[in-house]
Amino acid sequence: MDFKSQLLQRKGRVEDNLSIYFKDKSGFQKLLIEAMEYSINAGGKRLRPILLLEVCEMLGGNIDDALPFASAIEMIHTYSLIHDDLPAMDNDDYRRGKPTNHRVYGEGIAILAGDGLLNLAFEIMLEKIYINPHLYERGIKAMHVISRSSGVNGMIGGQVVDLESEGKKVNKELLNFIHLNKTSAMIEASIKAGAIIGRAGKREYRDLENYGKTVGLAFQIIDDILDVVGDETKLGKKIGSDVHNGKSTYPSLYGIEESKKIAFNLLERSMTSLDGFGKEADFLRELVEFLKVREY
Ligand code: IPE
Ligand code: IPE
Ligand code: MG
Ligand code: MG
Ligand code: MG
Repeated sequence: MDFKSQLLQRKGRVEDNLSIYFKDKSGFQKLLIEAMEYSINAGGKRLRPILLLEVCEMLGGNIDDALPFASAIEMIHTYSLIHDDLPAMDNDDYRRGKPTNHRVYGEGIAILAGDGLLNLAFEIMLEKIYINPHLYERGIKAMHVISRSSGVNGMIGGQVVDLESEGKKVNKELLNFIHLNKTSAMIEASIKAGAIIGRAGKREYRDLENYGKTVGLAFQIIDDILDVVGDETKLGKKIGSDVHNGKSTYPSLYGIEESKKIAFNLLERSMTSLDGFGKEADFLRELVEFLKVREY
C-alpha cells in the first residue's frame, strides 16, 4: 500500500472510533452534542490520533487498548481549535473547510462544545481503564502525559503566551516556548501515550519523544508559513490571520525562506531519532516526508 492509502486507512480507523461517541442525541442537551460533533466531523488530518495508534502498533501493542486514547486526543485537539477560533482569541471564521463552531452555533454553545469535548476525552479514557484492569498502570500513565501536555504545562500554557504576545515582537526563546507548548506538546503527547500503551522500552521511549518534539515544532513553523503562503481551499482556513492579529510567528521573526529551512532541518533531525528502529518505523518516516510538503 502506498503512503497516501495508508494514511487514509488510518484516518478511517480513527473516524470510525470517534463516531461511536456521538450517536446518542436523545437528551435535552442535543444541541451541544450536535455542536461537538460538527467540529469533530468537519474533517482534519487526524495527525495526533494517527501518531498515537501508529506508535502503539509499531511496538507490537494492542490497537484496541489505544483507540479511546487516540479519540480522546483528537477531542482535546478539536476543543482547542474551537476555542482558538473564538472572537476573544484568534477570531477566525473558517476551520476545516467549514464555518467555525461559533459562526454556526454562537459563542456560548461553542465554548460549551469545547468544554464538552475536553470532558468527554477524559471520560472515555477513564472508562477504558476502569473496565480493563490490564490498563490500570499504562492507561493512567498515558492519561497523565495527555493531561499535562494539554494543560498549563503544555497547550494552554502556549496559548496564553501566544495571546499575551499579540502585537509585540517576542524573542526567539519566547517564540519557541509558544510553539513547543501550544502545538508540539500535544503532538509529543500523542506519541508518548502510544509508546506507553505499546510498552516501549526506555530507549525507544526517549527516541520517540525526540521525534515528537522536533516534528511538533516543525509542524507549527509550517502552519505559520502556510498562514502566509498557503492556499485557503486546500488549508480549509483563512490565511493572513496571524498578521492580522499581530501574532509572533516564525515568518515574522525569521522570514519565510529561513523559516522553511529551520522546519526542514528539524524534520531531518526527527528522522535520525528513528535510526534505532527498523522497517516498523517506515510509516513515521514517510509521515515526515509528507509534512515537509504538506499544503493542508
Ligand atoms: C491546527 O492543527 C492547529 C495547530 C496546532 C497548528 P492541524 O493542522 O493538525 O489541524 P487539523 O486537525 O488537521 O484540522
Ligand atoms: C493553534 O495555533 C494552536 C492551538 C493550540 C489550537 P494557531 O492559532 O496558529 O492554529 P490555527 O492556524 O488557527 O489552526
Ligand atoms: Mg491561535
Ligand atoms: Mg488560530
Ligand atoms: Mg496558525
